[in-house]
Amino acid sequence: MDVDLRKANELFHDVESMQYDGKWGIAYDLENAGRVRGKYEKLLGGEFPHVDRMLEVGCGTGYVGLNLCLYQGLIGELDVCDISQGMVDACLGNAAELGLEVRGRRSELENLDYPEGEFDMVIGHAILHHVPDIERGLTEIFRVLKPGGAFMLAGEPTVVGDIMGRFARGGADRLVRLYARLGGRLGGSRARLRPEPGGLDEHGREIARYEHVVDIHTFWPPRVARVARSVGFEDVRCEGEEFLSSFVGWMTRTVENNLSDENISMRWRFGAYHTYLRLHRVDDLIYPVLPAFLFYNMLLYGRKPEE
Ligand SMILES: C[S@@+](CC[C@H](N)C(=O)[O-])C[C@H]1O[C@@H](n2cnc3c(N)ncnc32)[C@H](O)[C@@H]1O
Repeated sequence: MDVDLRKANELFHDVESMQYDGKWGIAYDLENAGRVRGKYEKLLGGEFPHVDRMLEVGCGTGYVGLNLCLYQGLIGELDVCDISQGMVDACLGNAAELGLEVRGRRSELENLDYPEGEFDMVIGHAILHHVPDIERGLTEIFRVLKPGGAFMLAGEPTVVGDIMGRFARGGADRLVRLYARLGGRLGGSRARLRPEPGGLDEHGREIARYEHVVDIHTFWPPRVARVARSVGFEDVRCEGEEFLSSFVGWMTRTVENNLSDENISMRWRFGAYHTYLRLHRVDDLIYPVLPAFLFYNMLLYGRKPEE
């Protein structure tokens, strides 16, 4: 498909913004805030520090920045930006509902609409793999950071993790279809495949197809770390997270996306969520003995040198 990747990301995420939190089970409370904080503390190797001025890039609906703001006194001021105006609006709407004061604007990572040396920390989650020019994106993060400021990116798929994810999704997809065809039951009724979303015009169908082009990269962590060092960052390091939890998580999400709502009971959702949490704890236990590049998500840290 011959498309401008930035435009595809913008249009696709404008549409996604209308259902994003529901689709991905995103919520804003201290439980979710704890999970977000835990990711970045793994990367920091210690406690999340107080940050006077934070910028969240590719903010989406605010999963990371807004949840961190729920900790009293952790974040002084939060600015958020995204290539999709729909996402910025959704994020600011969530902030207003939570009673948080947040500034937001539409801005691309490769061309950040902020002055040089403005922020103490730049944070992001699941954005870098959408960005065509990673080196330019990291250069822009470097520019807007104050000397001594740091960036942290999480939720970026590794090459190995992505292969495992595809395997889990493909396997679960085939099994669900077969199970439904054989007349299997789930949630107290016969397993029925979810109908294709109807009501889309040609423009809507075109945008739905962008789902397959907006995920541009998967990462070899040492290679991205080299790019971060080449644009000037120091203390660059990578960590990984989610191994078994991601494999099983992709399988349960595929079942949920493929079957009708009546098959997905509250009991199923509760069980799937708690299985995910338990496997996450197992992942933390096995993390020290497996290479980080095997894990589904890469986390990346770098610091702009003091002047
Ligand atoms: C997978 S979503 C993640 C959203 C949010 N950070 C989260 O974790 O829920 C990726 C986000 O990055 C944004 N994005 C994609 N390309 C971008 C770019 N070049 N500059 C800024 N944002 C971008 C998308 O619009 C989308 O909101």
